[in-house]
Order: sequence, then C-alpha cells, then structure tokens
Amino acid sequence: MREWNATELPSAGEADDWLAELGVDVGDRAAILALRPALAASPDLLALLADRRRQLITGMGDPRPMPMWGDIGAPHERVGNLFYVWVFLSVLPALRVFHERHGVTRHSGNRILGNLAGQLSAYRSLHGVAGLSEQNWLTRHFRGTIFDLGRLHVERTYFDEDLPASSRPAPALGEPVLSLHIPEGRLTPAACDDSVAAATAFVRREFGHERYRFAVCTSWVLDPQLRSYLAENSNILAFQRRFELSPRRGPDRTDTVIEFVFKRPAADLAALPQDTSLQRALVGHVRAGHPWHFRTGWFAL
Ligand SMILES: CC(C)(COP(=O)(O)OP(=O)(O)OC[C@H]1O[C@@H](n2cnc3c(N)ncnc32)[C@H](O)[C@@H]1OP(=O)(O)O)[C@@H](O)C(=O)NCCC(=O)NCCS
Repeated sequence: MREWNATELPSAGEADDWLAELGVDVGDRAAILALRPALAASPDLLALLADRRRQLITGMGDPRPMPMWGDIGAPHERVGNLFYVWVFLSVLPALRVFHERHGVTRHSGNRILGNLAGQLSAYRSLHGVAGLSEQNWLTRHFRGTIFDLGRLHVERTYFDEDLPASSRPAPALGEPVLSLHIPEGRLTPAACDDSVAAATAFVRREFGHERYRFAVCTSWVLDPQLRSYLAENSNILAFQRRFELSPRRGPDRTDTVIEFVFKRPAADLAALPQDTSLQRALVGHVRAGHPWHFRTGWFAL
C-alpha cells in the first residue's frame, strides 16, 4: 500500500474552508488546524491516515460493517482523536463526487456531514476542550451510507439482531434495513412521514437493486418507560407508536441518554435543568433508581 506524505494532506486553507462549510465552530476549527504540523511531521500518523482513508474510499457507499477505529493514545495523545477529522477531510472530495452521483445536493450533503460539527460541539460541551469520541459513528457519514432526508437521517444498513421467533412480521438477522436516526429538533409526525416517504423514494431511485422491507431505529426515544412521563400527544410517544419493539432492553445507557438530551455530564443530576416534561422524566426516573435504555424497533415500509 502506498503511504501518504505530508504534501497530500489537505492544506490548512482547504481544511479551514471545508470545516467552515460543514458548520464546524471556529474554536474547533482552530484546534483541528493546529494539529496539522504534528500530523505532517509524523510518518506513523500519515501511514495510519492513509490506511483509514483507504478503508473509507474502498468502502464508499458500502453499508457492511467496518473495522472499529480505536482511540488515538500515546505517543500521539496530543493529536488524539481529532486525527480522525483529518481522515474525514481527506476523503471529502471523493465523497462529494459520490453524493453528486446519487443526486445528493451540496446543501443536503452538508447537512448530513454537519454531524461532524455536532459531535465536536457535543464533545466540547461535555469536556470543555476540543476533541472527538464518535469517530466510528462518523465513518457512516464519510463513506456515504447515511443521508439527510428531511427530518430524519436515514442509513442503508443490515439488521444486526437475531429476534426470537414471532408470528408478527419482523426483520431477519442480516436483512437490509433503513435505519432511522433522529437529529436535534422537533419530531413532528408529519415531518417524519415526509422523511420516511422521501427515504423510500430515494433508495428506490438510487439503490433500486436493494429491497428494504423495514425501517428500524435504535434510540432512547423508543424506551417505553417514557410513556409513564410524557403526554400522550407528545411527538416522542407518537414516534414510538410507529414501531414494534424488540424484547431486548440492552444495557443501562442512562449516562448516554442524559448526555444526549442535556449535553452535560450525568454525574451531577441536581444541576440539570428541570423545565420540560422530558427533563423532569429523565432525572426523576434515575433518582427513583431506574435505568434508561436504548431500544430497537421496526415498522414495515
Ligand atoms: C428526540 C427529540 C427530537 C424530541 O423532541 P420533541 O419533538 O420536542 O419531543 P416531544 O414533543 O415529545 O417533547 C415532549 C416534551 O419534552 C420536551 N423536550 C423534547 N426534547 C427535549 C430536549 N432535547 N431537551 C429538553 N426538553 C425536551 C419538550 O419541550 C416537551 O416538553 P413539555 O411537555 O414540558 O412541553 C428531541 O429530544 C431532540 O432533539 N433530542 C436530541 C437528539 C437525540 O437525542 N436524538 C436521538 C439520538 S439516539
């Protein structure tokens, strides 16, 4: 495999422009750009970058699982996981071409890739410094398997659960499915209907050889314990009613749920705002000694 050299890295100017276009905050941009000299001077990191870049380029549009990308530690802890931002930048031109080939507009491409900005900003809120912990989640965005389809982000993937036998229709282990992801905002039923319709039309047009019987979702939003707390006409409960749930509850994900919703660490429950019914539900439930879970559900398309 050919290794990269420093002159093949996106230049600082290109990187800054591209990050700005993806909505990355100015402070995060500065932290990322500040790493370029260390990266350019390290044959180890350039070789790793070449390998990770190759994985994304050869897997462009391929929804099969990829090897996991570990955290960058010693001796490169100063660069840390912001290294992966340079990997993502290095594939951006190829990804833009892939998007164009599938009729994804620049605006829509930027909206889906804007997830990078969201992850950087969530990291900064939680830890008070620039950084990245969700490099594996972002490989889906930067190899073009997840698309912005209005209210929901929709991923071509495979169902990865072996469900107990049931008489009701359900996805089989390894079956292609459309996985729905919920970016921040209001989750109104009409916007979700439009998004699911747009997703179905998009995959039929662009990936017509693939057959998707089910949409699936794995999220705290599907935890049925929320029914005890939220109004029947809330968007979250309306969203839940679309889905048949897997009986598996999975592990306790309380800390992740709190971080998702409050963008603050779960350690200090007493400091969290209690203005909305969801905020009160999340905190009150934990205080009563109960865990929150990410649940998986599906509905037929
Ligand atoms: C999931 C989400 C889209 C739902 O938002 P929504 O459409 O406003 O949800 P609902 O209508 O069901 O809201 C019910 C109540 O919770 C409140 N609420 C919803 N999301 C909230 C949030 N992120 N923070 C604080 N309160 C929230 C609403 O204001 C409402 O409060 P009220 O009853 O006191 O008036 C929203 O919580 C969100 O953007 N979350 C972050 C993204 C996320 O976690 N995605 C899932 C990843 S797995």
